Amino acid sequence: MGVTRKPQSEKERNLLGKALRNMPAGELGNGSANFDTGFIAREGRGSKLYDFSDNEYIDYLLGSGPMILGHSHPSVTSAVRDYLEKGSTYFIPNAPIIELAEEIVKAVPCAELVRFTTSGTDATFQCMRAARAYRKRDKILKFEGGFHGTNDYALQSVTPKNLLSFPDPEVGSGGIPKAIQETVLISPYNDLETTSRIIADNHNDLAGVIVEPMQRILTPINGFLKGLRDLTSLYEIPLIFDEVVTGFRFAYGGAQDYYGVIPDLAALGKIMGGGYPLGAVVGRAEIMKVYDSSLAETGEFVPQIGTLNGNPIAATAGLATLAEMRKPGTYEKLRNSGQTLKSALEEILNQAEIPVQVVGDDTVFDVYFTSQPITDYRSTLSADNSALAKFNKLLLERGVLKAGQKFYMSVAHTPEDIQKTVDIISEAAEEMRATLV
Ligand SMILES: Cc1ncc(COP(=O)(O)O)c(C=O)c1O
Repeated sequence: MGVTRKPQSEKERNLLGKALRNMPAGELGNGSANFDTGFIAREGRGSKLYDFSDNEYIDYLLGSGPMILGHSHPSVTSAVRDYLEKGSTYFIPNAPIIELAEEIVKAVPCAELVRFTTSGTDATFQCMRAARAYRKRDKILKFEGGFHGTNDYALQSVTPKNLLSFPDPEVGSGGIPKAIQETVLISPYNDLETTSRIIADNHNDLAGVIVEPMQRILTPINGFLKGLRDLTSLYEIPLIFDEVVTGFRFAYGGAQDYYGVIPDLAALGKIMGGGYPLGAVVGRAEIMKVYDSSLAETGEFVPQIGTLNGNPIAATAGLATLAEMRKPGTYEKLRNSGQTLKSALEEILNQAEIPVQVVGDDTVFDVYFTSQPITDYRSTLSADNSALAKFNKLLLERGVLKAGQKFYMSVAHTPEDIQKTVDIISEAAEEMRATLV
C-alpha cells in the first residue's frame, strides 16, 4: 500500500498561505504536537474526508466527535435543508429546540430540565456557575488531566508541566486571572482515596465536583464514579458529569446511563448538535431553577443570555441525528466496529513488539506508547509522545485521519473501512518497529 498521499495542489497551497497570513499560525486553535494534518478540508462524505489535493481519508476525527453518523448524512442534510426556508435564528423558543429538550429529558437520566448553549466550553462553564449559585460556595474540584473546554476554570491542570501536590492547580493558559486558581482544586482521576481526603477537607467551600466520566480516553476503574457519587451526596455537593464526548455516544443516555451513576448536572455537546454549534446544561430541576428568570431579583439567579441560544438549525440537525441513533442496532454496530478496530490495533502493535497500552471505550480509544499501565494523568507521562506523533503521521500519509489522541468511531465506518485501516496500521507498525530496532 505504502504512502498514498498526493502532493499538495496549488489550490491547497494557496489556501494554506492565506490561512497563515490571516489567522494565528494559520489555525483554528485545534493544532497540537500530535495533530498536524497540514491540509485543508474540502468536504466530508460518510466515513471519508477529502482535502484540496484530492486525497481521501478514512475519518476517525469526525469533526472531533460530533459526526457519529459520518459526514453529510442524508437525513440530517435534508432536515436542515428543509428547515432553512423558515429562517435560521429567532432568539425566542422555537419548535425544534423544544422538541430537542424533550428528547434529551427522555434520554438522559439526570436531565429534568435543559438549558442550551452554543458550545461544550460554555456548557461546562455554565454547569460550574449553576453549581456555585445553587450551593452558594465558590470552589470547584476538577481532576488532573481532565478537559472541559477552554473557559478559565476548565484550563486548570489539564496538561500540567509541574506535578504540584494535590489539590493545587497549575494554570494552563495565558490570560487567566490568578484569582481563578484560588477557586479550583485538583485531584487525581481514579484515586478515590485522595479525592475523598480533598473533599472531606474542603467540603464547606466546595460548590461542585466536575469530572469526565471517561477522562479523555482513561476509563474509570471499578467503583470510582460510584464512590464519587457517594462522597458528593454525603456532603450535598453537586456532581457534574462532563458528557460533551460521552453523551449519546456510550449509550443513548450517555455515560451516566452506561455506567449507572447519575450526576446532579451534566454538560452536553458534540453529537446532540449533529455537527452544528450546540451544547446544553442539563440536570436536576432544583439546581436548574437558578436559570429561572422569575428569580431575577434574587442573588441566586444566573442570567444566560446568548444570541444563538436555542438555534433551530442546530436543533434540527441534532433531532435528525438522535432519530438515527435510536434506530435498533445502531449502538451495537458502533461498538462492534470499534471493538474490531481496537482489538486489531492492540494485536498488531503487540505483535510488532512495540510497548503500548490501548485504552478507552469501544466508541473512542487510542494507543499510548508505554509499557506502564495508564490510569490517570501522571501515568500518561510515561508514554512516548513523539512515537504517537510519528504513528499519527504514518497513518495520515496512508489515508487514515485520527485525532491527536483518539480514534472516534462512527456508524458510517464500513467493514471495508475497518479492514483498510487495519492494513494501514500494520504497515505503520512495521515502519515503527524498523526504527526501534
Ligand atoms: C470533555 C469535553 N468537554 C468540553 C469540551 C468543549 O467543547 P467545545 O469544543 O464544544 O467547546 C470538549 C471538547 O472537545 C470535551 O472533549
